[in-house]
Amino acid sequence: MALISSVADLSVEGNVAILTLNSPPVNALSALVRKSIHEGISLAIGNPAVDSIVLICDGKTFIAGADITEFGKPPSGVSLRELQDTIENSPKPVIAAIHGTALGGGLETALVCHYRIAVPSARCGLPEVNLGLLPGAGGTQRLPRIVGVAKALDMVTSGVHIKAREALEMGLLDELAEEGQLRSAAIAFARKVIAEKRPLIKVRDQNSKVEAARNKPDLFVEFRKANARKFRGFLAPEYNIRCIEAAVNLPFDEALQFERALFTELMNGVQSAAQRHYFFASRQVKNIPDVPADTPLIPVKKVGIIGAGTMGGGIAMNFLSAGIPVTIVETRQDALDRSLKTIRANYDNTAKKGRLSTADVERYMALLKGSLVLEDLADSDLVIEAIFENMGVKKEVFGKLDKIVRQGAILASNTSALDLNEIAAATTRPEAVVGLHFFSPANVMKLLEVVRGEKTSHSVIATAMQLAAKIGKIAVLVGVCPGFVGNRMLAQRQREANKLVLEGPMPWDVDRVLFDFGFPMGPFAMSDLAGLDLGWIKEKSSSSTLREILCELDRRGQKTGAGYYDYDEKRQARPSPVSEQLIRDFAQKKGKSARPVSDEEILQRCIYPMINEAAKILEEGIAIRASDIDVVWVNGYGWPVYRGGPTFYADSIGLDKVLAKMQEFQADYGDDFKPAKLLVDMVARGRKFSDL
Ligand code: 3HC
Repeated sequence: MALISSVADLSVEGNVAILTLNSPPVNALSALVRKSIHEGISLAIGNPAVDSIVLICDGKTFIAGADITEFGKPPSGVSLRELQDTIENSPKPVIAAIHGTALGGGLETALVCHYRIAVPSARCGLPEVNLGLLPGAGGTQRLPRIVGVAKALDMVTSGVHIKAREALEMGLLDELAEEGQLRSAAIAFARKVIAEKRPLIKVRDQNSKVEAARNKPDLFVEFRKANARKFRGFLAPEYNIRCIEAAVNLPFDEALQFERALFTELMNGVQSAAQRHYFFASRQVKNIPDVPADTPLIPVKKVGIIGAGTMGGGIAMNFLSAGIPVTIVETRQDALDRSLKTIRANYDNTAKKGRLSTADVERYMALLKGSLVLEDLADSDLVIEAIFENMGVKKEVFGKLDKIVRQGAILASNTSALDLNEIAAATTRPEAVVGLHFFSPANVMKLLEVVRGEKTSHSVIATAMQLAAKIGKIAVLVGVCPGFVGNRMLAQRQREANKLVLEGPMPWDVDRVLFDFGFPMGPFAMSDLAGLDLGWIKEKSSSSTLREILCELDRRGQKTGAGYYDYDEKRQARPSPVSEQLIRDFAQKKGKSARPVSDEEILQRCIYPMINEAAKILEEGIAIRASDIDVVWVNGYGWPVYRGGPTFYADSIGLDKVLAKMQEFQADYGDDFKPAKLLVDMVARGRKFSDL
């Protein structure tokens, strides 16, 4: 056995050389890993006793891609392309032995090997698109040569991880090894290749599948059309498609150059920087500085939910789908029945779409119990209160829970805005109380704000964070303040949007600007969808806001066929002359006259106060780090990931510009735009959110 470097060793068994990489956590292709593979393969090629070479990894995975931490830094050492040439041109067969995930540059390395073998649990994919990139080491050229153009288009634009069996059927793999037996199976396979004098297969020379797609431009036209909505705003999917087109229409080496040029352009662009920022942000968010990784967890085997409304039902589904029994408590039988029916209908719908088996539906439903008495929650490990937002009622419920639920259990509130400390104080065990702020629809939305009260214990926090991952949520730990992180910032945007429509722009103008920025919809379309009467009380309504005026006229949003917009029978929105007149009249009553407002101002008025609020949130320690705020906004509010999140976006345009605009707005429109102290400080010191 020869140690090549700290991350690779080379051993020879009979006539097979085995090059083993061990570069935790994911064997990414760092400069040292590239150099080590290059050296190992070259040594094996030069060793006359060796007839074939196996490339295999220790640890949890095969090479999971290029080393993303090296992106943006000057290239050093052996390039991936040089390394690939050495492998592909090896006179001795090289066999990639895959476990875990062969992703991005990892799969591209496997694709220059002459053969590939994997265990059944392995997965292969080219997920560069999720980093705003394309496979820049020949992936867009070699993949379609194996799996065909249609499948390749799908894989590179979705980044999907293909299971080993499917990869075998597609020809991406040549053989499956028994689980746990990869090394010996790969060596045996290498011997078979030699014994059977199998050819040195170079994927680059396999042209039949790309030739089959030549002169069929419709294939690409249709693909773009079918995915236009999904790809809206993103550069990378389109660039990936162009590279596959190049694979079809250009000679291999020319197309490879094309791929390189487009890869470099994406790599240097702001979208990829944003998506890479998000990649690390979504991993960092799990680290809580004062809660050590070995904090004891509270086993959660039974969950109780109070309130069987839309929220309670959605929350229940998360746990049922993760195999955790749920008891849901309501005060009225009819409401309880309705909720259980809705949960079943939701599961049935998913089953109808083929995304769930009917056996699964039954299994989940068997875990669900309805009840009309809180006492049925006595032996729960976690109880989540999901009733309407009323402090008095919530305190009463928590007081009761304190007496009923066993000691050691977690008591959680799904409040979206109320003071968790006050709720916790209604119990004799505030250390057991935490906020679990789910977003609607709770069975769909990825975000979970875990709200830490003054006294919430480390175990409760650690358990909540871990449990969130188990039920498929992305958890962000936040502190107590009105609206926490997400809704507190949203309130800024909503306030400005509401003010803007009294100054000239119509709701559809504001919505269009935010839609074009990349949000799935603007604030007024969102209000119409949610229902304008959320929290509206008819008896107390006094035409004092636009929303009240609309509700009083029964324009309560999509459900009544009219809100800010008018809706047709298919719920398609169109600008409404009626609400336009209502808005103009209301503005006049308020003494506002219409003026032309540019799209740029609309955007800045809506977004900059959010950025300012993010600075205040950090100042107050409500969020741990700036990138956590970005995770909240990408997962809870549809902030376009190619803009990284509010703090990344602010950094990318320049905090000095944001501050100057806020000061200008403050002079024109008042203290809603008063810059946060932290924002002023950062600009004064030439710092960014990402430096905090
Ligand atoms: N480079 C550098 N670090 C990486 C990395 C990479 N490619 N992939 C993962 N890591 C790091 C993570 O940041 C994390 O670090 P931390 O522990 O300090 O937070 C650690 O490895 C573990 O990652 P996860 O928490 O994500 O571990 P999981 O087990 O949940 O997932 C994984 C493992 C499926 C490999 C997942 O990490 C992943 O999807 N990684 C990215 C894969 C990828 O995008 N590859 C393409 C890279 S671009 C490329 O190859 C360009 C080429 O075409 C030229």
